[in-house]
Amino acid sequence: MSDATAKKEQRRKFQAIRGTRDLLPPETALWNRVEQTVHEVFTTFGFGEIRVPIFETTDLFARAVGGETDIVSKEMYAFLDQPDLSDLENARNAVKELNPGITAAGKQELFELYVSNFISEIHKHVTAQDINLPRRAQSDFDTIQDRFRDLLTLPDTKDEDTNNKRRHLTFEIVIKVDLLRFGESISLRPEATASVCRAYIEHNMLQLPQPVKLFYTGPMFRRERPQKGRYRQFYQIGAEVLEGTRPEVVKDSPKELSKDAVIDAEVIEMLMTFFDKVGLQGATLYINSIGHNAENCRRGYVELLRAELQKEPERLGEDSQRRIDTNPLRVLDSKLESEQAIIATLPHIADHLCDECKTHYAAVKRQLELRGVLYQENWRLVRGLDYYMRTTFEITAPGLGSQNAVCGGGRYDGLVELLGGPPTKGIGFAIGEDRLILSLQESGKGQTQQGRDVYIAWMGERAYAAAIRAARDLRSAGFSVELPPVEQKFGKALSQADKLGAKYALILGDNEVSEALWTLKTLSTGEQEKFPEPELIDFLRQQKNVSS
Ligand code: HAM
Repeated sequence: MSDATAKKEQRRKFQAIRGTRDLLPPETALWNRVEQTVHEVFTTFGFGEIRVPIFETTDLFARAVGGETDIVSKEMYAFLDQPDLSDLENARNAVKELNPGITAAGKQELFELYVSNFISEIHKHVTAQDINLPRRAQSDFDTIQDRFRDLLTLPDTKDEDTNNKRRHLTFEIVIKVDLLRFGESISLRPEATASVCRAYIEHNMLQLPQPVKLFYTGPMFRRERPQKGRYRQFYQIGAEVLEGTRPEVVKDSPKELSKDAVIDAEVIEMLMTFFDKVGLQGATLYINSIGHNAENCRRGYVELLRAELQKEPERLGEDSQRRIDTNPLRVLDSKLESEQAIIATLPHIADHLCDECKTHYAAVKRQLELRGVLYQENWRLVRGLDYYMRTTFEITAPGLGSQNAVCGGGRYDGLVELLGGPPTKGIGFAIGEDRLILSLQESGKGQTQQGRDVYIAWMGERAYAAAIRAARDLRSAGFSVELPPVEQKFGKALSQADKLGAKYALILGDNEVSEALWTLKTLSTGEQEKFPEPELIDFLRQQKNVSS
């Protein structure tokens, strides 16, 4: 690289990666207000906070969300997490580097020693649990061991046939040694329901009083095409209710169905209470039931849908044509203008639900009405994740353009079991926090208090000591205070206070210190008043109470 290029490279401006962004003050104050409201509202419904890792094994999401879904098949940030095991890598390199020389006399024994060393290093690390061998790696490792055994049993002769076999086995061993990867595929979480279910199993939460109610906030990652309200790192506020079912419970008895409906409605009620409290306007709740995975319910409906769609596949776009085979339900999700007419003629799932799912759905609607929660039914609401059954819901909000879903959720009985846990019911949702914030800002509900309460304009050594004390006392009384590090002329100090949006300037000069009377200027009106030191905080407290 030339000097000039190197300099240019050094001056290169780094930018946040496409689809990610910095959240800055004062906007972050709004994020904090929203998250604080989450804690306040959700805890009143008996939810406790869970914090799950940002990354998990790729398999967890593939199994839970579904390998065929867009999220898993196209949008996950997955990578191989390779352990740094230098002894193992040295053993691998020894085998690889010796390879070209093995036909030379005297190297065969050394080669065998190196391969045997490599194999025992792997056994050592597997036993110590530094590495685990994913399925593919295990089969490669088995092949290495098999071929090595074959190599050792070759007769100690130099005839051509044996030599060829030796060369062939050696070649295979070296290739496999080179290719063997110990790492595990891990992914940045595209959502958190899978992780919460994993944690429920891992921490044996079945032992806790059921249902277990958990909420979370944090970043999720999906490699989607960025646009307004759609990011590659975005934030969710989610909640999950998990209820392990005891063996004596009769599945889908009227009592169970009615209890599930109550839980669904209460979760939705909590969500709407939160939106109300945070000031979201114009939110619309859409609900649907997608039944359960049985021939007399969703599976039968899906077949019917497939048959209908197969009649004139050419009227559908490429994506929907593919989905006729993979997942016809997702065709209902399509926003393509050209497909709307054909979708409108398709059968509705509500007419094909089994009796239990019908009873449950009717009960959910009744429970919502009992709670005064307004909803609209949307038979096309199927959701893009595989784990749902029965209730699905989405909430849209104004001001968001085409990405107007501010929340999505539903019931997912059986997901915990699918991940290797006990029979468990589940229901939950996730709010897109970025979209919620956007909608609040667009409707003018996004303002948060900015600026400082008090700017301390001080002049002189003696005044500085008093200013430090005043700043400490005011801060511990909960006021936000700006104490400039250098002395300023009062005029400059006041204009700085204005720029920072301070409400008051506390003026401390020689006079104030000698008289023990501090001057407080209200910046919006220009009024000035003098206070003895102890009364100043009382006065500010009273003013704060009046304005809040
Ligand atoms: P989801 O519908 O995939 O559901 O996402 C929930 C919400 O996250 C969406 O409604 C949207 O507001 C927001 N969101 C999704 N992708 C993006 C993105 N790229 N940029 C900005 N916001 C986005 C789930 O994630 C389920 N885990 C919800 C759930 C919990 N179901 C049961 N429990």
